[in-house]
Amino acid sequence: MIEKRKKGEVTVMTKTAAQKLIEERRTVRMFKEEPIDTKVLYEVLQSAHHAPFHNKVEPWNVYVFNGDGKQVLLDALEPAFSEASEGQREKVTGRILNAAACMYVTAKHFETDKGNRDALLATATFIQNIQLLLSEREIGMVWRTGGLFDDARLKEMIGAEGETFIGLLQIGKYDTEDIPAPKARQPIDSHLIMFE
Ligand SMILES: Cc1cc2nc3c(=O)[nH]c(=O)nc-3n(C[C@H](O)[C@H](O)[C@H](O)COP(=O)(O)O)c2cc1C
Repeated sequence: MIEKRKKGEVTVMTKTAAQKLIEERRTVRMFKEEPIDTKVLYEVLQSAHHAPFHNKVEPWNVYVFNGDGKQVLLDALEPAFSEASEGQREKVTGRILNAAACMYVTAKHFETDKGNRDALLATATFIQNIQLLLSEREIGMVWRTGGLFDDARLKEMIGAEGETFIGLLQIGKYDTEDIPAPKARQPIDSHLIMFE
């Protein structure tokens, strides 16, 4: 519950745990060399799986590469790497190795445009749940969409053929100085059209 009280002339709002979690979450791109227990990732996924969905089945799949398992992802990237520059290979490999774990998140294929659109939207909410639940455990994450990950050969090699790539999540523990400054946000009023 939000508690509003007057302190002199200033109104103090006590934020709920959910408000704090949402507002304080940051994208983290630089990780410590510290492993994450698969059990922790599994627990996060079990709860994230309660995201809303409007398809016949939950529309997301998630391929988890933890610790040494990241080599499977690197091997699956090999066909895409062979067509990329050496610099890009190094950059992407470095980022994967720097993270403790990676999750490759896809949306399943549905028969209609609406089905596929709903699947994509629901899968984004699944990812946001993952971000928040990791943030609550002081585990960092970056949701990456760019680069080489939307590659049919990679999907085939990990068993995701025919699925829509939604994001590669790079996950790890972090030092507080590696938390980026918050991205400036406009006040909600500049996006809000209210009819009362
Ligand atoms: C759909 C989506 C795609 C993103 N893709 C990338 C990406 O490819 N690379 C990256 O570094 N960050 C990516 N991000 C992270 C954003 O850059 C980040 O959320 C933004 O800078 C705001 O920072 P914050 O998450 O700390 O609020 C993505 C975020 C979203 C929602």
